[in-house]
Amino acid sequence: MGSYQGVIFDLDGVICFTDKYHYAAWKTVADKLGIEFNETINNRLRGVSRMDSLEIILEKYDGELTAQEKEALAEEKNELYKKLLERMSPADLSPEVKATLDALRAAGLQLAIGSSSKNTKFILQRLELGGYFDAISDGTNITRSKPDPQVFLMAAEFLGLQPEKCLVVEDAQAGIAAAVAGGFDSAGLGEAAQCGQATYAMKTFAELTGICGAIPAKA
Ligand code: BG6
Ligand code: MG
Repeated sequence: MGSYQGVIFDLDGVICFTDKYHYAAWKTVADKLGIEFNETINNRLRGVSRMDSLEIILEKYDGELTAQEKEALAEEKNELYKKLLERMSPADLSPEVKATLDALRAAGLQLAIGSSSKNTKFILQRLELGGYFDAISDGTNITRSKPDPQVFLMAAEFLGLQPEKCLVVEDAQAGIAAAVAGGFDSAGLGEAAQCGQATYAMKTFAELTGICGAIPAKA
């Protein structure tokens, strides 16, 4: 525990807040199918891949869909989601998050993204963080979604670090489970802080400086 050389950040719900856009896009698709979709179901989609999210939504669907029809629905959702993401700008990056990232980097830590999202690079561009991270492991380079540790193991490999030298930062229970399965320490925010499995339960993002031994950030 401690003396980390790298920090691997989940993206959605940690670096930025895309929940409302995922919700709006899935809601349009669910309404079209005439199935119930609400915030409680949306919360179950955190950290879960796009296709696995669709399967959760279809639990409320009576009919049968072919694999092709499912692909088309996921594609439709993603087009709606990407349109909404265009509204994002650097103003959506909180000063606390940016200052903390800068402080960790100044302390010599390597920083990576470990996200299930295939839109990771687009979101980072919108926030003007394209090129900021030392490594990006995302939905485009994995075959298994969280709680499988693959996305974090690949992020550590891209950084050239062993899992025990990296701290994973997550907001989803599935993400903390993935960190544990991969042999990583983890820092949880929100629901992930309450699940009891995280090495550190955080109330604020800025607490990372204390955990990593960096000089506290001035937000
Ligand atoms: C995760 C989100 O980061 O990415 C999930 O928490 C989402 O809600 C998943 O389903 C996949 O995202 P995308 O952008 O590839 O559809
Ligand atoms: Mg998340």
